[in-house]
Amino acid sequence: MMKDDIAHVLYSQETLQNKVKELGARITEEYSGRTPFLIGVLKGCFVFMADLCRCIDLPCDIDFMAVSSYGSGTSTTGAVSITKDLSRDIEGRDVLIVEDILDSGVTLSYLKSYLNNRRPASIKICTLLDKPARRRADIAADFVGFVCPDSFVVGYGLDYAEKYRNLPYIGVLKPEIYE
Ligand code: IMP
Ligand code: MG
Repeated sequence: MMKDDIAHVLYSQETLQNKVKELGARITEEYSGRTPFLIGVLKGCFVFMADLCRCIDLPCDIDFMAVSSYGSGTSTTGAVSITKDLSRDIEGRDVLIVEDILDSGVTLSYLKSYLNNRRPASIKICTLLDKPARRRADIAADFVGFVCPDSFVVGYGLDYAEKYRNLPYIGVLKPEIYE
């Protein structure tokens, strides 16, 4: 069973649901009267994005990008490359990047400057989890779900070696799984 690999649950399904509603309400207020362009960073964002966008009571554009920086280990390699780009123009738009977790910040700082070059009207970041202990790039999110302890977490879209994304909660992986 998947749950046998989890040391403990950090954020239960209910805790996540409540937080996503709260974030959706804040985003709805912030972008009132506008049409934000949500850009999800695949693959980790897919569950969060699906829940979050349904808690935003505004017309939205939704698109996805994929970047690779990780391989199958548990820490970043530092090199970022774009493996799937946007299918629409973002010039003049209010862009909101949607991420599962802000860790070293290498991915998001690269992505933010990459998207900035396309001259959006504004660009902000919404991340479900923020792990400030491991920050290497000078970047902060505008909307944060939870400030997360410095352990490797999985579930609700987050993976280890492409597994555990379908866990309905977020938990800490037993170290013996990746050691
Ligand atoms: P950063 O460039 O180090 O901020 O990397 C962010 C990306 O690394 C996230 O989008 C995740 O895919 C992955 N990541 C970082 N920490 C974790 C974790 O604890 N569990 C699962 N994936 C993680
Ligand atoms: Mg990942």
